[in-house]
Amino acid sequence: MISEVFQEIDSTNKYLKEKVKNGEAGINHSVLAFSQTCGRGRLGRQFASPFGGLYMSVVLPMESSMTLTAKAAVAVVSAIREVCNIETSIKWVNDIYLNGKKVCGILAEGMQNYVVLGIGVNYCTRTKDIPHELRDIAVSLYDGNQNVPDAVFFAEKIISNIIELSSTDSNDWKKEYQTNSILLGKNVNIIKAGQITGCGIVSSIDENCALHVKTQNGETVLNTGEVSIRFAN
Ligand code: BTN
Repeated sequence: MISEVFQEIDSTNKYLKEKVKNGEAGINHSVLAFSQTCGRGRLGRQFASPFGGLYMSVVLPMESSMTLTAKAAVAVVSAIREVCNIETSIKWVNDIYLNGKKVCGILAEGMQNYVVLGIGVNYCTRTKDIPHELRDIAVSLYDGNQNVPDAVFFAEKIISNIIELSSTDSNDWKKEYQTNSILLGKNVNIIKAGQITGCGIVSSIDENCALHVKTQNGETVLNTGEVSIRFAN
């Protein structure tokens, strides 16, 4: 069960972090909103959060944000498959893609002994509600809300998958991560602070979810959230 549901909120991550700080929320406390006025993305970016999307956060025990976001990506892909019967892919490290466009983003924010993990899914966001500048790169699972699986049921599936994976000792999710990964074998640009700093072919994603890219100068291993990857032309 989702602990709290809002029609609109500034940011579910911000709200939940505040609650944790005040001792009002602990492990597995979860929040769902149907719209955010100040959605937060990775690297300090905004995350467009119109109605139609689902925006949720959950408090989890402290774990490396790399591992946790990778687990969350597997949890989301599984929930989309189980509830919607739609196949999506993971773009390292924590974006979910459908037909070459982003359908979900994940943000892990550590605090005290916890991580507040946020997930934003374009669930039944109408194309007209996706900001113009994002329409070439973002997509929704459904366009409009006719005959879509119940949104709260879907959000609960995502949260329960994440809670299950966050507490597992098994490494099986890593195979799922690799199998569903869109980048393996792809030609990519490596972006640091907005600049292309290298390019190459993704050769593997290792046990620690680090990305190995074969470049002209050898192999680069990327394991930080400060690096982005773009498909090279
Ligand atoms: C990204 O793709 O850059 C990460 C986006 C994470 C968005 C989610 S929506 C729910 C939670 N609340 C926020 O303000 N951000 C995360």
